Amino acid sequence: MSALSVHHIGYLVKKIEKATRTFLALGYRMEQDIVYDAFRKVNICFLVKDGCRIELVSPAAEDSVVSGLMKKYKNSPYHICYQTEDFDAAFAELTAGGFIAIDTPTPAPALGGRDVVFLTNADIGMIELIR
Ligand code: NI
Repeated sequence: MSALSVHHIGYLVKKIEKATRTFLALGYRMEQDIVYDAFRKVNICFLVKDGCRIELVSPAAEDSVVSGLMKKYKNSPYHICYQTEDFDAAFAELTAGGFIAIDTPTPAPALGGRDVVFLTNADIGMIELIR
């Protein structure tokens, strides 16, 4: 497997401004202010603490990509995102090794337009891979 390193933990929240304030009170600092992702109809912001990066994701419309997950999980972490030196190799290895891509690599405005793809696995659920 191409070496993977953790880029962020994706965290679903109902209200992103309130969630941000609460994370700041816990000692996180804002790495990037709230960005609207029109592809996915979500608001996203990044917070960091102790070398840990959290991505807050909040639905901005009824038909956002996370609206279904929100109903199921409420406010909760829901994916770990990994980066790698070789995205194409890692993506191929993951899909050959029990991970099923649930979308295709698509630019993420909140990540400077870098491509991301989500995959799911029977044992650990959803992960994200970033180019
Ligand atoms: Ni993410």
